[in-house]
Amino acid sequence: MSNANAQLLTHALLQQLDEARHVMVLSGAGMSAESGIPTFRDAQTGIWAKFRAEDLATPEAFAANPGRVWHWYEDRRETVRSARPHGGHHALVQLESMVPSLSLITQNVDGLHQLAGSKNVTELHGNILRSRCHVTGRAISAQWIADSTGDVPRSPYIGHGFARPDVVWFGETLPRHALEAAMEAAVGCDFCISAGTTSLVQPAASLPLLALEHGAAVIEINPMETPLSPHANQCLRGPASEVLSTLIQQLKSWRQDAGQGA
Ligand code: APR
Repeated sequence: MSNANAQLLTHALLQQLDEARHVMVLSGAGMSAESGIPTFRDAQTGIWAKFRAEDLATPEAFAANPGRVWHWYEDRRETVRSARPHGGHHALVQLESMVPSLSLITQNVDGLHQLAGSKNVTELHGNILRSRCHVTGRAISAQWIADSTGDVPRSPYIGHGFARPDVVWFGETLPRHALEAAMEAAVGCDFCISAGTTSLVQPAASLPLLALEHGAAVIEINPMETPLSPHANQCLRGPASEVLSTLIQQLKSWRQDAGQGA
């Protein structure tokens, strides 16, 4: 549902979105907040306000205490399994069908964009519902994890290996194919939407700037100011569900009016 109070895109940017051949969307934890998945850096409610990243989201933390890390991720997996996409996710599915090409680059590991029905999704930081061997990196099936006994599931591939969540931890490099796809989208898009991210974590934070450098219009959707804000062509201050739904309504009305020769 669109909201009469949500901020509107300027007509100049609406026209650019209408005419865009390739749209890139970069999403972050704020995109999932209204689905009940906590963000990382929001004061009080953010995950890193309650836990120390170095104890839980680094290869060293896993090596030191695989059980602690595995069980902490199990709790987060439970939250993700019960979460459902909201209106903002559905608005992005609609947008994908309204433009010639859309690349959805997400830092989120919850799979909510895919659950909503978005097709061209690149996961920069992996997916929390998948597991892989902590030594070989090979994928481990959900069935293997479900059938495992013991504190932390063992790897099926190597004796001293454990299963770990298939996410990117601090100090690790991003999956190469995902980063390449994201860079290609940033360089090739003509309209970029950054939604629900603090724009602090690299290399994701650089993608909208790269898009700007290559001539794209960039808008930010976030209730708060971020380091991207001063560079963006427009900042829409509000929750992703409301702002994205309104954006789609605006684009539809714009096209209807154009169709009527107004
Ligand atoms: N709609 C839009 N934005 C929101 C909403 C909302 N409903 N609620 C919060 N936000 C914004 C916050 O203002 C903040 O700028 O979402 C952002 C969330 O920021 P972070 O928690 O830092 O999330 P993100 O930028 O995605 O973090 C990047 O950091 O720890 C890592 O790997 C983790 O992928 C994550 C990365």
